[in-house]
Amino acid sequence: MSETSPSPEKNAALMEKIVSLCKRRGFIFQSAEIYGGLNGCWDYGPLGVELKRNLKEYWWRKNVQENDNIVGLDGSILTHQEVLKASGHVGGFSDPMCDCLLTRARLRADQIDPQSGVAYCYTGASHEESGWSIEREYAVLLKEGQDENKARKTARLYFSQFLTDKQISPKKIELAGERTEEVRESTRFNPENGSLLTEAREFNLMFKTHLGASADEADESAVAYLRPETAQSIFVQFKNVLETNRVKLPFGIAQIGKSFRNEINPRNYTFRSREFEQMEIEFFCREEDGMALTDEWLERRLAFYEEIGIPREHLHILDVPDGERAHYSRKTYDIEYEFPFGIQELEGVAYRTDYDLSKHREHSKKPLEYFDEEKKEKFIPHVVEPSAGCDRTVLALLCEAFDEETITNEKDKEETRVVMHFSPRIAPVKAGIFPLLKNKPELVKKARQVENLLKPFMTVFYDETGAIGRRYRRQDEIGTPYCVTIDFDTIGENGDDLIDTVTLRERDSMRQQRIPISDLRNFLLEKIH
Ligand code: GAP
Repeated sequence: MSETSPSPEKNAALMEKIVSLCKRRGFIFQSAEIYGGLNGCWDYGPLGVELKRNLKEYWWRKNVQENDNIVGLDGSILTHQEVLKASGHVGGFSDPMCDCLLTRARLRADQIDPQSGVAYCYTGASHEESGWSIEREYAVLLKEGQDENKARKTARLYFSQFLTDKQISPKKIELAGERTEEVRESTRFNPENGSLLTEAREFNLMFKTHLGASADEADESAVAYLRPETAQSIFVQFKNVLETNRVKLPFGIAQIGKSFRNEINPRNYTFRSREFEQMEIEFFCREEDGMALTDEWLERRLAFYEEIGIPREHLHILDVPDGERAHYSRKTYDIEYEFPFGIQELEGVAYRTDYDLSKHREHSKKPLEYFDEEKKEKFIPHVVEPSAGCDRTVLALLCEAFDEETITNEKDKEETRVVMHFSPRIAPVKAGIFPLLKNKPELVKKARQVENLLKPFMTVFYDETGAIGRRYRRQDEIGTPYCVTIDFDTIGENGDDLIDTVTLRERDSMRQQRIPISDLRNFLLEKIH
């Protein structure tokens, strides 16, 4: 986080507020919540889906519709096993994982913070009265200042799982062979309880399934996978796109869609999910242009984030060093955002060379070359890939927008205004439409007319309940950039001067202006475009 960033406690409290607002106002719900929840999966509620759609539509417009040399694709989610064998996912798309020997909790081995302290090691345990005993190595790490009896209690709990008589209290177990050992910077112990972990082993992150009604578990030929990235269908359809569209290098194929990874530790709200959406472009080019285009795409992507309301100063660029990049990548930038839970990746811009197309040519034995008419050259194009996470961007937008302001209300009292400062472009609701009073038919009729005028062009929300101030607050909390109030001036009760004009209130400044209804649509369209 930046130098002025708040404490971890404040950041955790902030994150809690954002999560609570998202649930309270219908942005994001836990999947299958009434059944206890499906870990790593999320449902977007009425406001969340609008926000997400606005993001995806803007990405599509900027990248596909406004570019002559980028076309779209919508590939299948179920993926042929050969595609993912060729890409290396079947053999190598894995994370190291280990299990807590005490609680069976599964942890990502590469995400465990190294710890130091004294390990209490045991060779087994026994229970004299019943004659039960076990020989098995186990250890518990105690950090400085912790009571040694904590290690013994944990060890007894561990060995008690092997008791044949479950009536025996763990307290009655005798520990064998206790010895201590200084441990420095070790990742072999569970940071939560000090228990020893299993050795790390590789865990493939793909969801496997079987195609067809008669497919049985053992039928390897029926195996398919839920795609772990949208990129592969782009490579596999490269030749079809090339032959059916008059595209020339450099050109891109863009795709937005769901991807699936059986993440070991889904965490940080929607940040690391098991089902998520990606927005990816494979931008094909000549080898000599690869490096420069990677830099160019980085700038284009940074500009995009600025346009949706994520300022440059809250983004970090990690130039991934040699040895840490994927083996096929000659250059990778990670675009990271300052989330309340830390600086984390939003998007990767990677120069993937000709690796993927070459692999698919080799495995499929189909020609995937590009023929350059002018130079009379045939070659496998290289590719630059800006790969963004849609859900992560939504989360960044929510974190960026959230604010609590102290303001003085109409009664001259201080109050907290919760406001989401979404850019009008991506805000889920563009305008609130309020008749000043709900029991005045002329006001209601006019307000409904205004609603119907705007509805075909943008998402609006009609609200006639409560005082105007309260209605403003409700819209502030979901980030509606404008509120339109239809009052007595609108219907000509105070003379003809202001007839058919409305009060337009802007969310961030809370300033109000009078505007003719006839100008309203164009005014708002310009702001939200
Ligand atoms: N085709 C390249 C690729 O998939 P990646 O870095 O694994 O690269 C790209 O993923 C982006 O997809 C990430 O920057 C992130 O925004 C998003 N993403 C990846 N795994 C995710 C997960 N488990 N949950 C949410 N978003 C994820």
